[in-house]
Amino acid sequence: MDTENSIRQAIRCLFLIAFISRNHAAVVNIKTKGAKGDGISDDGKAIVSAWKEACGGPAPSSLLIPPGTYKAFPPIDLIGPCKGPITINATGATVKAPPELEKFTTTYWIAIRNVSKLTMIGGTYDGQGQQAWKKNLCPDGGTGSCPLPVSLQFTYVTNSSLEHVTSADSKFFHMSLVGCDNTRLDHVTIKAPANSVNTDGIQIGLLSGFNITNSIMTTNDDCISIGQGSKNVNIKNIMCGPGDGIGIGSLGRHANEKPVQGIWIKNVTFTGTEHGFRIKTWPTSFPGSVSDLHYEDIIMKNATYPIFIDQNYCPMNNCKNGTASKVKISNVSLRNIKGTSATKVALKFDCSAGAPCENVNLNDINLTYKGPEGGPATSQCANIKPKVIGQVVPPACPH
Ligand SMILES: *[C@@H]1O[C@H](CO)[C@@H](O)[C@H](O)[C@H]1NC(C)=O
Ligand SMILES: *[C@@H]1O[C@H](CO)[C@@H](O)[C@H](O)[C@H]1NC(C)=O
Ligand SMILES: *[C@@H]1O[C@H](CO)[C@@H](O)[C@H](O)[C@H]1NC(C)=O
Ligand SMILES: *[C@@H]1O[C@H](CO)[C@@H](O)[C@H](O)[C@H]1NC(C)=O
Ligand SMILES: *[C@@H]1O[C@H](CO)[C@@H](O)[C@H](O)[C@H]1NC(C)=O
Ligand SMILES: *[C@@H]1O[C@H](CO)[C@@H](O)[C@H](O)[C@H]1NC(C)=O
Ligand SMILES: *[C@@H]1O[C@H](CO)[C@@H](O)[C@H](O)[C@H]1NC(C)=O
Ligand SMILES: *[C@@H]1O[C@H](CO)[C@@H](O)[C@H](O)[C@H]1NC(C)=O
Ligand SMILES: *[C@@H]1O[C@H](CO)[C@@H](O)[C@H](O)[C@H]1NC(C)=O
Repeated sequence: MDTENSIRQAIRCLFLIAFISRNHAAVVNIKTKGAKGDGISDDGKAIVSAWKEACGGPAPSSLLIPPGTYKAFPPIDLIGPCKGPITINATGATVKAPPELEKFTTTYWIAIRNVSKLTMIGGTYDGQGQQAWKKNLCPDGGTGSCPLPVSLQFTYVTNSSLEHVTSADSKFFHMSLVGCDNTRLDHVTIKAPANSVNTDGIQIGLLSGFNITNSIMTTNDDCISIGQGSKNVNIKNIMCGPGDGIGIGSLGRHANEKPVQGIWIKNVTFTGTEHGFRIKTWPTSFPGSVSDLHYEDIIMKNATYPIFIDQNYCPMNNCKNGTASKVKISNVSLRNIKGTSATKVALKFDCSAGAPCENVNLNDINLTYKGPEGGPATSQCANIKPKVIGQVVPPACPH
């Protein structure tokens, strides 16, 4: 072969390599990193090692957890930034945490940090929380110092998505997302028994752009809990319950909290939940704001307190009472809300005397009560003058 020919050959070869690598993302199978998949051995280190290779390798890359059952000891730290988009594909796989709390030195089981364009597809992440729930002494969903581990902790994971991911029996919260701008969750399943403890579904905060659609959540605490600094949140086509509903807050307990702004909640069914729509703020609190909330096409099936603005939130009486909350709630619309309340007071607006609720629209609401006390459902109102549009049953804040 002459020189020219072999150069031509080499160039053709380079093009072929470029073509292949463009069309076939580098897939790192955790089995090539020593994962056994026997459900007993610790495959956590293999997951971390596969992550490091995929994350550091040419993009787009993919970490594959093939079908099977894996036990993964904490901490599972999956840290970016990566070279480019990255996928974790656990379709058909179950990854189990050790049941013993003693195995945990961190407040999470799996942490994903500083990653952009992550796609998580499939898989069941099983926190095996049954033992931990019995040891949970956290006073109020973790507002005190509370060491139980979150199953999936996302911090600064941006422009990312989770699809068909299941979180089961977390020891504490199922998922938390902080600083995760532009994140989309679709067909996510959250499950833990009603008698588990503090198993909030998804906690979010300090992010802009969070969408969750077509998901089912059965748990013990909030299905979705919206914390300070949450902006542009869309929650759509969700089944929630048992659980504690979709809550905003608690807010106002700490200084310098960022506003909660732009929350759209549409087509949600609450079944046997403690609350449906709730905002909770502490009295004697720091200033804050909650605004631009849109809540529509909601079905309540025997929710204990379907609609509840609680600006005197003070669990365990561990705050001084008597001073009004300084968190301002404004620009709220509640539209097309139907169903049943397990207690008589179906609409409760306990707004702050120090920062009355403003510009609240109630449109087409029908909540009925059929419990032991008998009689129709009622409303309770303080420091609010809602604008009523269409039929609102029970009558809200009659004068
Ligand atoms: C995920 O992995 C499974 C094999 O475990 C494969 O069949 C499937 O195509 C993968 N999905 C994606 C989106 O890569
Ligand atoms: C992760 O991102 C945060 C916020 O952008 C930044 O403060 C931190 O230094 C980053 N950490 C790493 C390890 O890159
Ligand atoms: C996310 O994507 C948007 C739009 O593509 C881009 O403007 C933004 O910089 C990205 N953010 C991060 C943190 O990657
Ligand atoms: C969330 O949904 C809204 C409304 O459908 C859309 O405008 C926005 O781009 C979506 N954001 C993400 C991160 O998917
Ligand atoms: C409402 O959400 C449920 C799932 O919770 C879905 O089956 C139904 O199609 C949705 N309805 C509309 C009008 O999108
Ligand atoms: C605090 O005061 C409010 C209004 O007076 C009252 O409704 C609420 O029950 C009190 N909370 C506690 C914990 O005492
Ligand atoms: C509430 O809506 C009004 C009128 O649309 C607007 O002027 C005001 O800025 C909004 N308030 C907040 C806190 O977003
Ligand atoms: C409604 O919920 C209450 C508890 O909050 C329960 O005692 C009652 O049996 C439930 N009713 C129905 C019809 O499910
Ligand atoms: C409210 O719902 C109840 C039970 O479904 C129904 O009987 C009643 O007619 C409804 N009221 C209005 C005003 O739509």
